[in-house]
Amino acid sequence: MPAVLAVTIMLGACILSGQKASHSQVPEFVLTYAENQPEDYPTTQGAYRFAQLVFERTGGRVEIQVNAGGALGEEQSTVAQMRFGGIDFARVSLTSLSEFVPELNVLQMPYLYTDADHMWKVLEGQIGDDFLDSLDGFGLVALSWYDAGARNFYSSKKPVESLEDVKGMRIRVQESELMIAMVEALGASAAPMAYEEVYSALETGAIDAAENNWPSYESMSHYEVAPYYTVDEHTRVPEMQIASEDTWKKLPMEFQEVIRECAKESALYERELWAKRIRQSERRVRRAGCQVIELSAEEKARFREAMMPVYGEYCHEYMDIVEKIIEAGIRGPDHGPGQNPVACGDGILHGSNFICRPGAKALMGRVYNSNARIPLPGLFQYRCGKFLERAVRRTSPG
Ligand code: GCU
Repeated sequence: MPAVLAVTIMLGACILSGQKASHSQVPEFVLTYAENQPEDYPTTQGAYRFAQLVFERTGGRVEIQVNAGGALGEEQSTVAQMRFGGIDFARVSLTSLSEFVPELNVLQMPYLYTDADHMWKVLEGQIGDDFLDSLDGFGLVALSWYDAGARNFYSSKKPVESLEDVKGMRIRVQESELMIAMVEALGASAAPMAYEEVYSALETGAIDAAENNWPSYESMSHYEVAPYYTVDEHTRVPEMQIASEDTWKKLPMEFQEVIRECAKESALYERELWAKRIRQSERRVRRAGCQVIELSAEEKARFREAMMPVYGEYCHEYMDIVEKIIEAGIRGPDHGPGQNPVACGDGILHGSNFICRPGAKALMGRVYNSNARIPLPGLFQYRCGKFLERAVRRTSPG
C-alpha cells in the first residue's frame, strides 16, 4: 500500500473514532528506503538501525520503511526515481551515483587507497565532507558513508592468476563508464548489467567473470557459479546513504537534523557489521570449495599499471584531489624489501618504498632520516616522476 494512502486511512480511522491523532499513534511522515542487498546484509541491517533510531528520536513522527532485496528496483533506477521524489531514501554504491555526479569517480579510482584505513581517513575528513556536499544540485542529499570493502574478480571457468588470464574475458561490471574503462584497460570486454542479473549471466555463460567484494560474492551466491575468486583489490567503492531532495525539503529542520545524526550513527554500526561479514563470507565460500587466488605483489602491480591510464581519462580535472587522497595514505617509515629502483627527486623509488637520499629530510610535510624507507601507495609510485618531485620540493626546508 502506498505510504501516503496508509497514513490517510489511519488518520481517517482516528477521526471516525473521535480520537485525536497523537504522535505516538500516527507518524506524520511514512517514507520509503531502498536497499538492493538481502535482509541479513550489513548495509540492510544498517538501514534498519537507521529507521529505528529515526522513529525513536522523532517520537514516532517519522517512520522509514526499509525495502530490501531490490524490492523497489535496481540501483540505477532507484537513483533516477529519487531525483524526482519517487523514493525517499536509499543506500547505494557510489558507482550508481557517479553517472549523475561524475566527480564521484575520483573516490573509486583503481588502486587509489592503500587499504581500508586510508579510505576511511579520506572519507571522514574534509575530502569526504566535500564529496557529501557534491550531491547538491542533483536532486539528492547525501547523509553518510557506508563501507563496501574492496572489489575482486571472480570467474566461472578458469582462475585468474595473471593479467594474461583476464585478457579476452567477458566481465560483468556495474553500469558505469569508469568501470567499463577499468576492465577494458586489462584487455577484457565489459558487460555492464544490474547486480540482480549477474548470477544467471554467470550460470548461462553470458559472461565469464564479474567483480565484487566478499560479502556480495557470497550473499548473492555468485560463488556457486563462479568458484574462482582472485584477490586483486582493484578498487574500493564507498557507498552512501542518500535522501531525495524533494522529500528532504518537505521535512522540518528538526527532523532533518535527527535524520542526519541517525544516518551517521547507523553508518558506524554498518562498519562494525561489515568487518565481521567479510570474514564470515570468506569462510563460507572457502568451505563451499571455492578456490581463492592471492595475487603476488608483482602480479598485482601489473594489474595496477594496466589500469592507470583511466586516471587520465576520468580524473584529469581532479588530480589535485587525487593527490590529496594519496598524501592522506602516506605512512611512517618502514623497512620492507623493494625492487626495481626508479630515480625520483630527493630519493629513489625502490619497489613500493621511497628511499630518501642523504640530505633529503622532508617528504609530504614530514621529516625523515636519510635512507628512510617510506611505503608508497600504488598510484604514488606510478606518478612518482612528476608528483613526488614536486611534493619533495614543496616541503623541503629552504
Ligand atoms: C555491491 C554494492 C551494491 C551494488 C553491487 C553491484 O554489492 O553493495 O550496491 O549494486 O555492488 O555490483 O552492482
